Amino acid sequence: MPQITFITTAGAEIRAEIPLGLSLMRGAIEAGIDEIRAECGGVASCGTCKIILEGAHQGKVPTASAIEGSMLEDDPAGYRLSCQIVVDAAMDGLVVRVAPAEY
Ligand code: FES
Repeated sequence: MPQITFITTAGAEIRAEIPLGLSLMRGAIEAGIDEIRAECGGVASCGTCKIILEGAHQGKVPTASAIEGSMLEDDPAGYRLSCQIVVDAAMDGLVVRVAPAEY
């Protein structure tokens, strides 16, 4: 299983092994990261599962769909909806920063 490191907004690093095919959002929640609230349940409509991918880590994840992109229009580069990212083998070693809450 790919090992993914989450960095909370407080700077804590949490490493999790996430099964292939699971969304990054589900993996984060199962790893105990309660900052990922995922209020819409993963249908790309709430924005409470945002994460930030920095530098080369952006290239380890497929580009955002049009629906995901529309939810990120006002966010800086690197912001993604973790519910729309399905974990695959290429994501082993990925580092994900939890985005600060917007409200
Ligand atoms: S869980 Fe709501 S947008 Fe991702």
